[in-house]
Order: sequence, then structure tokens, then C-alpha cells
Amino acid sequence: MFQRMQRKWGISGTQFWVIFMAFGLTGTTTAIITRYVTEWVGLTADGFWLWKILLRISILVFGYQVILLAFGAILGQWAFFWKYEKKILQKLGIMKVELAENSSKTTKIAIFASGAGSNAANIIDFFKNRADLKVALIVCNKPGAGVLQIANNNSIPTLMIEKDRFAKGDAYLPELKLAEIDFIVLAGFLWKVPAALIAGYPNKIINIHPALLPKYGGKGMYGSKVHEAVIAAGEKESGITIHFVNEHYDEGATIFQATCKIDAVDTPESLAAKIHELEYAHFPQQIDQLLSSQVK
Ligand code: GAR
Repeated sequence: MFQRMQRKWGISGTQFWVIFMAFGLTGTTTAIITRYVTEWVGLTADGFWLWKILLRISILVFGYQVILLAFGAILGQWAFFWKYEKKILQKLGIMKVELAENSSKTTKIAIFASGAGSNAANIIDFFKNRADLKVALIVCNKPGAGVLQIANNNSIPTLMIEKDRFAKGDAYLPELKLAEIDFIVLAGFLWKVPAALIAGYPNKIINIHPALLPKYGGKGMYGSKVHEAVIAAGEKESGITIHFVNEHYDEGATIFQATCKIDAVDTPESLAAKIHELEYAHFPQQIDQLLSSQVK
């Protein structure tokens, strides 16, 4: 259940517990403040019940939100709680809903994927109710790949690419620009990204690699091959690396890493499952953070 909430909120495990703590501290503090305020204004046990209830409701509705923001900020989670408060204020009609037209524009993401596409599905799901960001295109090089079905299920257009034009031609820039793509996410995409694409999207292409780069990266290191190599080397931990893409396999600047333990009983398959969990928990959130600070 906790993992589902983490995924829904797009937060890491540690962040989840910090947020949990902020809610707990806010609840306790609000209860204490309500008691003091009730006594301070002279509403004792024999006072008129309606005034007491009204006072408590106002503290709960307004005071709670302010205290929550304060604890959120103290615990380093201002961004999360401000987003949460904005939603409440919008629901109460106090704040205007930011429609796509109001924000400068909707950032359009293209996901490049060659395989099953479980990361693509998770990213699509994460951004599906967002006006400011959307997955607008799935780019794939493998006919019949699972990701194509995922695109279809979500009514997202697809672009099938072939090697020569991608690697030695215009890298499909005309199609990407026509679809107004702002940002590219590689999620299980196995071809090397050519210079033409990097030039068209400088600092706007990121990849996820299922190991702790710089180890276990480079040509031929993808999916199960990575996990087999990690297990064969007797590593005690592995993880994920989210990084910018440059012209060399798995060598662009690191944006984020998360680790998991490898137990003696782990196989490449069980390690793959642990890695996928890390990917689902962090990749959409990292994309979100990066885009909030980068593209507009
Ligand atoms: C993911 O684990 C991703 O990290 C890996 O392929 C898998 C795709 O799974 N990428 C690489 O190995 C790139 N070198 P998915 O298709 O279910 O998202």
C-alpha cells in the first residue's frame, strides 16, 4: 500500500516517511492549538457548543493548512505540500485552476522505448492528469514491442523508426519537431543516440540505466545482461542511474542514483524486479523535477 502511495505521489521512500511525519506533527500541533485557543477565548465546557464547533472547524480548515505548510517547509518538503495545498485551495474555489493556456505551455515528452515498456506505462500514468506536462509521443524501433500496445491503450501516437535514418540521417528531427516535442526520455531504448538528435535536443534527452554507472554500462549492457553481469561479479548492491544522454553509451552527466541490496539468493530475474521497483518509484518524479526547473 505504501509503495502504491509513493508511486501515486511520485516520491521516494525517505520522502514518504518525512511527509508522513509532517502530517503527524501537524495533527498533534493543531489539536493542542485548538485546545488553547478554545480556552483563551473563554469557551469552557459549559459554553455554547455551536461556537466551540465553529471555532474548531475554522482552526482545522485554515490553521491546519498553514501549520502543515510550516512543517513541510521545516522538513524540506515545501514543494510537495505547496502542490497539495494548491489542490485543496483550487477545490475550495479559493485559487484558480491553472489551465494549460494559463501556464506558458504544455511540455511535450517523447518516450523512446524498444521493449515491454513498463517504465513508459508508469510515466504515462504519472503525468496523465497534468496540464503542464504530457507524454505526447512514443518512439519505437521494434515492431511488436509491448510499448506499442501501451501507447495504443493510452491513445498516444507512435513513431516507428529505422536504423539508417536514425543513426546516419536526420534522426527523425522533422517528425519530433512537427509533434512539438520538448523533451526526450529513453526508457529501455537500446540504440545509441546520434549527434544529430543531441544537437536538436541539447540537455533535453535523459536515459535510465539499470545499474550504478559508471559500472556495468556501455555498448551491449542493457536489461538482463546488466543484471547477469552484476550478479556474476558478486556485487553486494546495485541500483539505477538517471543521466543526461551524450554521444557515448551511458556516459552523460548523472542526474540521480538509487540503490538496492543484493542478497545471496538473488538471481538476475529477482534483481531485475528490484531494479524495476526503483525505476517506477523514481523515474517519473525525476523527470518532473527536472522539467519543472528546465524546460519552459
Ligand atoms: C529498464 O530496466 C531500463 O532500465 C533498461 O531496460 C529496461 C526496460 O524495461 N534500460 C537499459 O538497459 C538501457 N541500457 P521496460 O521496457 O519494462 O521499461
